[in-house]
Amino acid sequence: MEAKLVTVPEALPSKCYSTERVGISKATHDNHLTLWKGYANKTNEIRKALQEMDPDPSKANQIYSQMRALKINYAFAYGGYVNHLVYFNTIGGQGGEATGNVATLIKDAYGSFDRWRSEWIATGIAGRGWAFLAYDHLEQRVHTFMGDAQDTYPAWNQTLLLAMDVYEHAYYLDFQTARAKYIDAYMQVIDWDAVNSFLPK
Ligand SMILES: [Fe+2]
Repeated sequence: MEAKLVTVPEALPSKCYSTERVGISKATHDNHLTLWKGYANKTNEIRKALQEMDPDPSKANQIYSQMRALKINYAFAYGGYVNHLVYFNTIGGQGGEATGNVATLIKDAYGSFDRWRSEWIATGIAGRGWAFLAYDHLEQRVHTFMGDAQDTYPAWNQTLLLAMDVYEHAYYLDFQTARAKYIDAYMQVIDWDAVNSFLPK
């Protein structure tokens, strides 16, 4: 059986480049697209390696083994692929207050959009890699999670709706170390229609 592979578009959706109006540049996005492709390539490489190997439980080892390396790095690679897919598809909008069903879910979970917004921004400052907004199928509500890396710290039974990349590669070219300024710009370009499109039907 052939491994199912993931793909990254040759070019980002053109709406992404509208973020230049708030200072998130084309150069940042073009470099970032290359990184996204890297996550896709490694996802595919690991999928093929798993497909082609003949797993031998006697060779698996929790200190070091091929299976351990593949499993750990698969979560990082595929996590990075999905995180960036959601990131690039949910920017290039008008930002501001949430709209649609996501607006209702945010209000139900946080009381008001502003309360959610404060927690979201603080999560982006406190995290080393990501802030995630996800729909929880178990409790049928949204949560804000923090990510220090591509594979931390979500929970199960969640659908990712919005992913804010706060790794330095997402902003250093435009804002140097001023992450708060980047987040302020990011908040002005969230595409809430796209966020709603990730909600389970
Ligand atoms: Fe990134």
